Amino acid sequence: MTDSSISPTTAPAIFDAHAGGYDDDLRRRLIPSFDDFYGAGVAALACRVHPRDRVLDLGAGTGLLSGFVAQAFPAAELVLLDGAPAMLERARGRLAGASAPVTLVVGDMADPLPEGRFDAIVSSLAIHHLDDEGKRDLFRRAYEALNPGGVFVNAEQVRAPSERLEGRYLRWHRDASLARGATEAEWEAAVERMRVDRCATVEDQLAWLSEAGFPDPDAPYRLYRLAVLVGRRPD
Ligand SMILES: C[S@@+](CC[C@H](N)C(=O)[O-])C[C@H]1O[C@@H](n2cnc3c(N)ncnc32)[C@H](O)[C@@H]1O
Repeated sequence: MTDSSISPTTAPAIFDAHAGGYDDDLRRRLIPSFDDFYGAGVAALACRVHPRDRVLDLGAGTGLLSGFVAQAFPAAELVLLDGAPAMLERARGRLAGASAPVTLVVGDMADPLPEGRFDAIVSSLAIHHLDDEGKRDLFRRAYEALNPGGVFVNAEQVRAPSERLEGRYLRWHRDASLARGATEAEWEAAVERMRVDRCATVEDQLAWLSEAGFPDPDAPYRLYRLAVLVGRRPD
């Protein structure tokens, strides 16, 4: 179980305050296997997203994942939701040249999702800010908000299956980040931000996706603390 004593508004407030320093180069240093991780998230949309489809990005931040989605599916309409307005302002700049409509929504993932149905709902490194009941509830709401044939992709930081492995996974993350050029100060700042994380295991999240209605949810990508969880709504 994760700590549910932290206010759900804490994470967006932290990211809002540090939006200026949330740059892509730093993310590359702090996310081992950055290209494989985001690439697996976008690959999971293949055959599911078509021109003019609607894609919702939950906890979109500066639009890192949305940017990759826009590159792969330039005609797809994007709706970005985040609780930190300053993060979304940076997403506005990233997606300024997008050829399809882009809508920015300041909001909480715990509240009702933006109006209408979506063909894909994606998220990266954001849903772990909700407590476990919040994640389960969001998975249910995501299922309901998808059109038949739609896909839910959660590229996520996950909890290890045991406390002992959690320590090993954390050491792996630190060592891999420093090997990718992160400084000790950058790692320490990341650890400070991660204090509000409430990560869940891959196994628990697959069970919650199943419970939400997704048949055969899977994790096509997994490397220590990083995993891509996918649920497909039947046609
Ligand atoms: C680590 S950042 C990830 C941003 C982006 N998806 C990426 O991959 O770079 C987490 C984002 O989730 C947002 N967030 C956290 N909890 C949220 C909530 N309950 N509702 C909306 N956004 C939330 C934060 O404001 C932040 O922008």
